[in-house]
Amino acid sequence: MTIDTSLLFIGGEWRTAYSGEYFDVLNPATEEVIARVPDAGPEDMKLAIDAAMAVQDRFANTTATQRSKILLAAANLMYERADDLAEIMTREEGKPFLEAKGEVAYAASFLEWFAEEAKRVYGETIPANTPDKRILVIKRPAGLSLAITPWNFPAAMITRKLGPALAAGCPMIVKPSELTPLTALAIAKIFSEVGLPKGALSVVVGKDPVSLVKVAMDDFHVRKVSFTGSTAVGKLLMKQAADTMKRVSFELGGQAPFIVFQDADLNAAVENAVIAKMRSMGESCVAANRIYVQRPILESFTDRLVAKLSALRIGNGMEDGVQVGPLIEPAAVEKVERHVADAAEKGAKIILGGSRGIEVGYFYQPTVLTNVTDSMLITQEETFGPVAAIIPFDTEEEVVERANHTHHGLAAYYFTRDIGRVFRLSEKLQFGILGANDGLPSTAQAPFGGIKESGLGREGGHHGIDEYLDVKYISLGGILSENT
Ligand code: SIN
Repeated sequence: MTIDTSLLFIGGEWRTAYSGEYFDVLNPATEEVIARVPDAGPEDMKLAIDAAMAVQDRFANTTATQRSKILLAAANLMYERADDLAEIMTREEGKPFLEAKGEVAYAASFLEWFAEEAKRVYGETIPANTPDKRILVIKRPAGLSLAITPWNFPAAMITRKLGPALAAGCPMIVKPSELTPLTALAIAKIFSEVGLPKGALSVVVGKDPVSLVKVAMDDFHVRKVSFTGSTAVGKLLMKQAADTMKRVSFELGGQAPFIVFQDADLNAAVENAVIAKMRSMGESCVAANRIYVQRPILESFTDRLVAKLSALRIGNGMEDGVQVGPLIEPAAVEKVERHVADAAEKGAKIILGGSRGIEVGYFYQPTVLTNVTDSMLITQEETFGPVAAIIPFDTEEEVVERANHTHHGLAAYYFTRDIGRVFRLSEKLQFGILGANDGLPSTAQAPFGGIKESGLGREGGHHGIDEYLDVKYISLGGILSENT
């Protein structure tokens, strides 16, 4: 697939930025510049808004079947171009090629899922309060939507928003991370080929995301904003959204506990810990950040985890056999270093890794810390890196309390063979996504999202499309009068 990364996709046209400026995109494995992308500014965002408004009514009035066909065609092109898309992703984000290919399939699955959900936007009839009335409920597109997407899943976090928006009949402006604009532009190219009306999708990206987003947040025509990223930015966007009362859905930071009870299937727990910890090099909002292990199995769990993590090959994700790529940028490595140093200073033991390992590129070795306590930074903040922090616990009651002791509430994992405990924990743990004997609960079929400061709204599942639909009701009077 050839995409011209020197152009943006705005209002159905490939354009340079109004400013005429460009910014560099780096490969985090080599630190080399791999592309120069137009640096969009306020004028470009306004152009995208105008183009979306010009098509909005027409797009809202297309049939669900028409929109479904566009989404399915786009999903099929994503599968066809999986190798190309994965290579783009590996080069700009760092995740190993096979993992990137897995993300392409995950991303396409949202388009497929919402292609089907488009056809199931049902209304309701409700028994009325008087005999001469009937109450009907209909759902209509919420309007122009803005997606602000992160760099850690450069494809899936776009389609998880774009799929339901287009399925519902809402035009969408995607503002991807300036660290990973190339995957976003490759997705735009796919939609430009499958008959999506011009203006229904724009990709606007620039090196000053704050002012770019502000233009859209201040604009009344943008009726909905969906954001995946940090809690701090989510709070800021929520304040900005208040001025024009935009609908919001936010998937924000996590602080996932991963709890292993002594009755668990130990091999399964270790396998799943590797997945929940190492997916996207630990740069995931649902990454296992605090690994609580019941004391009698502490040593055997730790030994097996160390054996698995030490066998992983780290390097440039385009090389065969590499399983761990670089982190996204120097600041990401510095944060991991800060967390490991703080833990070591407060008494944690580094029993694997604990350094960068490779000089060129933003690498950090898979690392295991033991003797971790709740007073360390690593158990209080999202590390977003390949560090497994192992914390012993004694009782169920104690671990539930410690797991819930956070303002975050995105994902939690627990491993046990006790079915009663599965239910008790599912009810008591204050998290929106619960992996019971499952380290990878993410899927298009389920309502992904957090509680507390981890966000609002749900993405995926049949719930996901509701975020882009306004509920209206018709109270129809005069039913009993023949003259009406
Ligand atoms: C995220 O890290 O924000 C999302 C990960 C997922 O979809 O599983």
